[in-house]
Amino acid sequence: MFHIPFDFYPLLKPFLFLLDPEKAHNLSLLCLRKGLVPAAKIPNDPILNATFGPLSLPHPIGLGAGFDKQGDLIQELFNFGFSFAEIGGVTPKPQPGNPRPRMFRDVPHKAIINRFNFNSIGFQAFLRHLEAWHDATAMEKERPIVGVNIAHGDNVKDEAEAYIRGIEMFAPYISFATINISCPNAPDARHLEEKDELKALLERVTKAHASLEKKPLLLVKISPDQTEAQAKDIADAVLSVPLDGMIVGNSTTDRPSSLPASFAAEKGGLSGEPLFEKSTKLLGLMYRLTEGKVPLIGCGGVFSGQDAYAKIRAGASLVQIYTSMVFRGPYVVAHILEEMIPLLKRDGFSCIKEAVGADFRKESL
Ligand SMILES: Cc1cc2nc3c(=O)[nH]c(=O)nc-3n(C[C@H](O)[C@H](O)[C@H](O)COP(=O)(O)O)c2cc1C
Repeated sequence: MFHIPFDFYPLLKPFLFLLDPEKAHNLSLLCLRKGLVPAAKIPNDPILNATFGPLSLPHPIGLGAGFDKQGDLIQELFNFGFSFAEIGGVTPKPQPGNPRPRMFRDVPHKAIINRFNFNSIGFQAFLRHLEAWHDATAMEKERPIVGVNIAHGDNVKDEAEAYIRGIEMFAPYISFATINISCPNAPDARHLEEKDELKALLERVTKAHASLEKKPLLLVKISPDQTEAQAKDIADAVLSVPLDGMIVGNSTTDRPSSLPASFAAEKGGLSGEPLFEKSTKLLGLMYRLTEGKVPLIGCGGVFSGQDAYAKIRAGASLVQIYTSMVFRGPYVVAHILEEMIPLLKRDGFSCIKEAVGADFRKESL
């Protein structure tokens, strides 16, 4: 455990969990802003080296969207040891999101339900944060890999146009842009995942993206709530356009029967441990349906090195986490990586790339 300075989180957590989850989250952001979280030390082992399309990363663990919704803590996020971070979701115009309370935790099941529905400062203000980060890091040898999660926001007539505008605005500053079509909270949010709508959307967005001077990688983030037939439609649509990758996936509207009734009754997207199995199954299916041709990011319920390794073996080139930060604290990335190294060694892999999709590679894809 020498990679972790001193993991104070188990001592702090009981007090933090006395607070309303959104207040606890805001307090964590404040501590990060004030420099009160000592930086995690990440294992420096080449076995962890990962790739995603043209990107090379020292390890595969990144931050999922929604933690830094306003993009005003970009550099600080890397104190946690992430190899990449997705900021946002951001909407074209400022919007307040749903009324509070809108975030709930269930401690025994290590789960969160949120129904924020994009409390966002809007593209313009978000752009200023990105520009400020860019200026502040102008002297750095290499900027960390940052992506923006783009949502179309409430009451938009032309969703494709909203995504395109966001991509065009943020492109000069980011490594990847994610088209978020899978928010479980926005009204009528998931219709864009339907076959014809998705194909039409991706065709317009990829066409606009192709004309950009500086092109960030273009990803789409899908929901884990897909039947096999829906997953096949999504895979077909994604394979028909020049998309750089897919994130599988967002939080779920499902409520496993193991959850307590009062928690399960809250509307919104469920994340954390109860999401792991479902999202990993869909990830494996997507890997097979896309024949390993579309780089995938596995997201949903990753708490341990074993979980992250399972996502990679199911087909993920990279892994994102959010809810495990709440339950395991700011050194969760270091813990996950330390736990993953022996598993990679045990199975004879010399880097992450070799392990991607290993569960399925023996079968004919
Ligand atoms: C409070 C909260 C806010 C989130 N906001 C967003 C968001 O704005 N955009 C998005 O694509 N995903 C959002 N997510 C989903 C996460 O990025 C992730 O896909 C999901 O939580 C599953 O991963 P996890 O089990 O590791 O948390 C949010 C999740 C939580 C818990």
